[in-house]
Amino acid sequence: NKVKLIEVRSEIAAGTRGASLGIEALKVASLDRDSQYFGTFDSVNVDDENNLLFLKNNYPHAKHIDGVHTMVRRVCSTVNDVMNEKRFPIVLAGDHSTAAGTICGIKKNRPDQRLGVIWIDAHADLHSPYTTPSGNMHGMPLAMVTGLDNKEMQVNDITEGTREIWEDIKNVGVKGPKIDPGDIVFISVRDTEDPEKHLMEKHGIKNFTPEEISRKGIKQVAKEATEMLSHCENIYVSFDVDSIDSRISKGTGTPVPGGLSVEEAKLLNEEIIKEKKVCCWEIVEVNPTLDTENLMAENAFDILENTTKSLIENF
Ligand code: ARG
Ligand code: MN
Ligand code: MN
Ligand code: MN
Repeated sequence: NKVKLIEVRSEIAAGTRGASLGIEALKVASLDRDSQYFGTFDSVNVDDENNLLFLKNNYPHAKHIDGVHTMVRRVCSTVNDVMNEKRFPIVLAGDHSTAAGTICGIKKNRPDQRLGVIWIDAHADLHSPYTTPSGNMHGMPLAMVTGLDNKEMQVNDITEGTREIWEDIKNVGVKGPKIDPGDIVFISVRDTEDPEKHLMEKHGIKNFTPEEISRKGIKQVAKEATEMLSHCENIYVSFDVDSIDSRISKGTGTPVPGGLSVEEAKLLNEEIIKEKKVCCWEIVEVNPTLDTENLMAENAFDILENTTKSLIENF
């Protein structure tokens, strides 16, 4: 059995409470669907640092960065372990900051190979403590792994304490950048701030906008996205459920209009995971406390199950 689930109930890096319940909501959805998914695959839990939420936050521009650092290190080491077992890690997470740990873990496992990232999200998650509008670190994973502080667009003065931990996070797994910003492909990104737009332009980061997706169709987008990373030996796919349109994705912390339909998201992940270079897949940001009838989790579970099926069929 090649797949291993990694469960990380982190929610310290989100701005809205409740994402730590996302995994439980996926499990409830699986039972409502009469699926044996969670009985089929081995899983491993990564401890979260959510207790920090009950203490005062000392880092306004990188909230609970101390806990995020600890959690990212744990995810990194677990992803590396699972890959050493020659298993395919499927990461089920809460807030999206976990993805930094996942990327660090892949890079630790394959330090000499180039890693590309397909980031399916409403957001670019490229902020640093120097540019964040919210201080929420789920908006920062791609800055952690590219090492881009984006100081030319600085809006926040950060403390020495924040700076020290931020520098440490950039060295988790292997020292320095894990990926090249040009090796990121965004799909469905439609809510970015100026500092992020600046980086996307400066580094020529491709984004398949909702408009381009409707025009080309999902299969073509999946094909082009993987082709754009043909120079990379490995591809990691990060699926933030807020990539789906906010009419459906009510059960997520930062919903945005104009996104994918559930069918599009399903087909997109089904197609992308057929690519042999894909070495890890992650789903994040399901927050059932914001939902009615567990709708987001049910749709997210259908996508998870369908993606896993496509992966196994194409081993
Ligand atoms: N750009 C906004 C911020 O930094 C929103 C980030 C949302 N990120 C996410 N993973 N849902 O606060
Ligand atoms: Mn995200
Ligand atoms: Mn998002
Ligand atoms: Mn915005």
